[in-house]
Amino acid sequence: MQKQKIIACNWKMNKTSSQAVTLLTEIKENLKPLNCNFIVFPPFTALEAVNDICKKANICLGAQNCHWQEKGAFTGEISVEMLKELNVKYVIIGHSERRQYFAETDETINKKIKSVINAGLKAVLCVGETLEQREQGIEKTHIENQIKADLIGISSDDCSQILIAYEPIWAIGTGKTATSQQAEEMCKFIRDSIVNLYSEKTAENINILYGGSMNGKNAKELLNQKNIDGGLIGGASLKPQEISEIANNCK
Ligand code: PGA
Repeated sequence: MQKQKIIACNWKMNKTSSQAVTLLTEIKENLKPLNCNFIVFPPFTALEAVNDICKKANICLGAQNCHWQEKGAFTGEISVEMLKELNVKYVIIGHSERRQYFAETDETINKKIKSVINAGLKAVLCVGETLEQREQGIEKTHIENQIKADLIGISSDDCSQILIAYEPIWAIGTGKTATSQQAEEMCKFIRDSIVNLYSEKTAENINILYGGSMNGKNAKELLNQKNIDGGLIGGASLKPQEISEIANNCK
């Protein structure tokens, strides 16, 4: 059976809460009846404001990060319980911008994934190599190491609550997309790594997304690849017509 594609919109640190409502309203107006799992990841401050539109339009709500502790003296942090009460169903974990600018490590990423799973939500784990690593030909070793470290202590059953986004860092926000062959090769490699870590069945069921300058022009071909189950989309998800076009093309 063919899986429903996943279109995940990572708005990053863009849009105030009223601007997020305007953006999602415009997106909704451009969307045909959904043939994909459409998820929006607004900033924390806009989660509550867009919730109503999400419910009415059958759009899922996600957050861009969380802390692994339930509560306590962690100034400035947000727990999974806090997100859950706002109807959040997905949390992006380990985005390369968080690894790069906020010193996130595989160890903290692993803790975050576990807290998301324990709360019954789904984690979108991001992995990806730098341009330097690709030039050195070590992209696969790097991705495999990330996956192994990020999934330590996570059972095969828990994998049903995990999505993996392959996001080559050199393609994020640069307009330089991986070719569909490169993206497919890496997503297949990720699936094979899951076979090795868990089983064929777990690997078959897990959703693997591609992210990195996906847009209205290249999305169709990328999403047509056998091992690409969806897209994690930044820049293009802030453009109502473009993101709707991508979602409307999903079969
Ligand atoms: P981009 O971002 O689509 O703007 O490249 C993707 C991401 O960082 O998730």
